[in-house]
Amino acid sequence: MKAIVYKSSMKVELEEVEDPRIEAATDAIIRISTSGICGSDLHMYEGRTSVTPGTVLGHENMGIVEKVGSAVTSIQVGDRVVIPFNVACGFCLNCERGFTSACLTVNADAPTGGYGYAGMGPYRGGQAEYLRVPFADFNCLKLPGAQGDSHEDDFLLLSDVFPTAYHATELAKVMPGSTVAVFGAGPVGLLAALSSLIKGASEVYIVDHYKDRLKKAEQIGAIPIDFSKGDPAEQIMELRKKNSLINGSLRPGEEKMAGVMCGIDAVGYQARSFDSPRKENPIQVMQSLVKIINPTGNLGIVGVYTAADPHGVNKKAKEGVFELPFGELFEKGISLGTGQCPVKKYNRFLRDLIISGRVKPSFIVSHRVSLEEAPGPTRNLTSAEMVSPKYC
Ligand SMILES: NC(=O)c1ccc[n+]([C@@H]2O[C@H](COP(=O)([O-])OP(=O)(O)OC[C@H]3O[C@@H](n4cnc5c(N)ncnc54)[C@H](O)[C@@H]3O)[C@@H](O)[C@H]2O)c1
Ligand SMILES: [Zn+2]
Ligand SMILES: [Zn+2]
Repeated sequence: MKAIVYKSSMKVELEEVEDPRIEAATDAIIRISTSGICGSDLHMYEGRTSVTPGTVLGHENMGIVEKVGSAVTSIQVGDRVVIPFNVACGFCLNCERGFTSACLTVNADAPTGGYGYAGMGPYRGGQAEYLRVPFADFNCLKLPGAQGDSHEDDFLLLSDVFPTAYHATELAKVMPGSTVAVFGAGPVGLLAALSSLIKGASEVYIVDHYKDRLKKAEQIGAIPIDFSKGDPAEQIMELRKKNSLINGSLRPGEEKMAGVMCGIDAVGYQARSFDSPRKENPIQVMQSLVKIINPTGNLGIVGVYTAADPHGVNKKAKEGVFELPFGELFEKGISLGTGQCPVKKYNRFLRDLIISGRVKPSFIVSHRVSLEEAPGPTRNLTSAEMVSPKYC
């Protein structure tokens, strides 16, 4: 089959690789209809992980079941399915507790498994014609409709981005009436803003510097904050301070809660410096979040931080050591959640929100390309294009 293969930093190629086959009775083979390119793929593409050359990329996968092993009972050839990016067994200690992001049996080297990703086991990705799905009964989510219908992009986003964004709001404990600041208006940040709004948040601020992304955020009812125009935490506090309705509701002393209750990092370790976005500053988003989150608030970090970054900005960053303003975080009593999303915890319920017409997460999709076009055009891309979601 044809597949997108990681060759070296900034280089992927379309190659012929061996077809996947049923290796265990619990496997299924999926014919891919759509596969996403994730912000997480960019960490590998830009040479910022330990990914092995030759890896077939693609962890955001959906398609049609082509073959099933003899022990697969609940899905059939011809079913339309979307696959969580986590490879999980369903029966280990962590899977049983709902943490399919930390499956203990599918990867000999780490307590996590995933398709086509550095450090996540031997599983090939789905930026390809076919994909092998282990423990298929557990890992396939059945979808209605037919390949290429008006829900194709919405359902694809159930493989990672939508559940991850929703997970961020769970880590940040977003509830009806919550005030929320989301850093990063990429696919994950935009859908974290959408998830906050679904949950009934009262104010959702979203920080980035790409105007097209901030505009999309505004269209769904979030308040855009352009970090190139000044310190984002200050901008949010200023907007809240200027709002006479917010001010009119405060008792004396309550002005100490001038920030927000919930903060979300949807950027990660390749964050850009606020005052010179050409440079990286991996800790500025975290610093800003600790500043903007109110005492007793909650911080959800889904933006990736890695323990090994060959091109980190300094020696500590290369080892994944980042300086947190921990004293301030402690004094404010902020609680903090991190890590990979356990997609299965949310994907069924988010699917049903799509089916009922309550949400249409595909508003974030900007480009669709064929597998042949996926290695990218030969002209130089602007950085805005390079971080836009594309689909093959
Ligand atoms: N935890 C998980 O399970 C999980 C799953 C998927 C993606 N991720 C991670 O989530 C992060 C976001 O993913 P994405 O697909 O939206 O990526 P993306 O690269 O498309 O978007 C990141 C956005 O952050 C913005 N940004 C950069 N520096 C910033 C700063 N200092 N302040 C505010 N915004 C800034 C960029 O301009 C960009 O728009 C990535 O790190 C990705 O690896 C994690
Ligand atoms: Zn992803
Ligand atoms: Zn498991």
